[in-house]
Amino acid sequence: MIELRNITKHYTSGNKQTTALNGINLHIAKGEIYGIIGHSGAGKSTLLRTINLLERPSSGQVIIQDRDITQLSHNSLQQRRRKIGMIFQHFNLLSSATVESNIAFPLTLAGVPKSQIQTRVNELLDLVGLQEHRSKYPSQLSGGQKQRVGIARALSADPDILLCDEATSALDPLTTKSILDLLAEINKKFGITIVLITHEMHVIRTICDKVAVIHDGQIVEQGLVTEVFLKPKHQVTQEFIDELTDPVEWNNLKFEQSTSQQLVKITFLGEQTYLPLLSEIISKTGVTFSIMQGTISRLKDTPYGVLHVIFHGEQAAIAETIQQLKTKDLDVEVI
Ligand SMILES: Nc1ncnc2c1ncn2[C@@H]1O[C@H](COP(=O)(O)OP(=O)(O)OP(=O)(O)O)[C@@H](O)[C@H]1O
Ligand SMILES: [Mg+2]
Repeated sequence: MIELRNITKHYTSGNKQTTALNGINLHIAKGEIYGIIGHSGAGKSTLLRTINLLERPSSGQVIIQDRDITQLSHNSLQQRRRKIGMIFQHFNLLSSATVESNIAFPLTLAGVPKSQIQTRVNELLDLVGLQEHRSKYPSQLSGGQKQRVGIARALSADPDILLCDEATSALDPLTTKSILDLLAEINKKFGITIVLITHEMHVIRTICDKVAVIHDGQIVEQGLVTEVFLKPKHQVTQEFIDELTDPVEWNNLKFEQSTSQQLVKITFLGEQTYLPLLSEIISKTGVTFSIMQGTISRLKDTPYGVLHVIFHGEQAAIAETIQQLKTKDLDVEVI
């Protein structure tokens, strides 16, 4: 659906040159929710804006549905852009226009007949749950409601791609949740490919199928959220994940790794998360354990658990326990 090939972007201001993107390669499949996470200044917005060429890359190709859109004529590009919706952190609504007019704006601009616009705006008001606020002005709405207007406006021309630039960063946690739920619903219902950028791992964990981590204009890690989140390879990724969990205070642990006690990290994924696998196994091997840290949560729709435990017992019994856990397809790492 979307492919970025070897994208670089340099900005020049005065005699200073900044490389915002440095050799980006990315493939986003149709219908995916693809998250891009990075710290401030990493190049997220620049990257997102190259997808609809609001920002022209200095080099590289932007391929959408098999066409390099950097090669399109002005008119063809305008047409392609109409099918790429975008929402923003600060909503970017027209303050002097009502909710209805804001949503209708792209269609009015495109010269769509009035009756058709009215039907579409009605559908969108239903979708985002703003019927009763249709005649209000942006200043009369909450942040969450403003973002709903932004979403409805972005969907007005029935796009196949929705770009979200920190769409929930200005919202409180509960409102963030409701907007993320709405985005997931839109993705499911209409099959729209969603690309979102964020600096919060929480957002990635809640709705994304895939994730890319951007650092200093480069993608340092990418893949399925279930893989990247549970087995991060890059330090930056690890830091984003650590923001979500209390890291174990290993230094304060009063225990010596020995043959009779061993610290292990067990990762459960999917339905295994809720099965009594560990207790079944230790009841046979005779090992006991103490829990050092535990998390059970979800990655989008997939349950997962991460457990740090110290096994106590005979060396052979501990080894047997670890072996048995592995045969149940659990990921076991001796620390
Ligand atoms: N128009 C511009 N002119 C010059 N430099 C720019 C311009 N836009 C962005 N940059 C620089 O490019 C780099 C990447 O910026 P970008 O806005 O893409 O980062 P970001 O990851 O979106 O950051 P944030 O999380 O703060 O929004 C930064 O060093 C920034 O200063
Ligand atoms: Mg940005």
